[in-house]
Amino acid sequence: MGAFPMRTFSANAAASVVMALVASTVIAAEGTTPRYGFGSKAGVEELAKFVSPLPDGRGLPRGSGNVSAGKAVYTAQCLSCHGANLEGGMGDRLIGGRGTLATKDPAKPPVKTVESYWPYATTLFDYIKRAMPLTTPGSLSNDDVYAVSAFILSQAKIAREDTVINESTLAKIQMPNHDGFIPDPRPERFPPPKSAINK
Ligand code: HEC
Repeated sequence: MGAFPMRTFSANAAASVVMALVASTVIAAEGTTPRYGFGSKAGVEELAKFVSPLPDGRGLPRGSGNVSAGKAVYTAQCLSCHGANLEGGMGDRLIGGRGTLATKDPAKPPVKTVESYWPYATTLFDYIKRAMPLTTPGSLSNDDVYAVSAFILSQAKIAREDTVINESTLAKIQMPNHDGFIPDPRPERFPPPKSAINK
């Protein structure tokens, strides 16, 4: 007999927890009551700082830059760590090493750079916008990021000197190692989950 009221109680308790969660989610989403008494609603301007472009260019913000503007950005903001010739220093080497990643010649060690490794040009915008310069990430305007991307691509001889990089041209740049990534051919090493097999 004792079990029945208990069960009713837990069912009611569970239902009210669910209701409370639904209610608090609605309030938080509307931004009317600051639930924990700190923080603020992210505005349009703040959200615009977060980019996450896809390889096909979707998600890239508007903007544009050419090689000479990019050279100026590079000299002022990047050279101290990545070197006058993009050869690296405190920061990574950015160009060169093309074709070295797949050789078996021990005399030619792999040199991993934007030029030799990255399969998609849009990663330049994504990475530089969010992570560089190392000490002040997020400080560059979209135009500056497009410009410095144009400069790096031209120094790597992937894009021409007169190239203009913007939200529609960047994804069209074909990176040298675009075909260097292959799907893993070993299903025996990474079997699909059991639930997927029995369907
Ligand atoms: C204070 C030093 C510093 C400055 C200034 C700096 N970087 Fe970097 N950069 C680094 C370091 C260190 C890394 C490696 C970070 C890591 O692996 O997590 C890096 C990585 C990178 C990479 C990725 C390289 C790869 O192959 O993975 C790119 C691209 C890059 N930086 C571009 C830039 C650009 C463009 C600027 C100027 C706008 C800049 N960096 C300014 C230190 C710096």
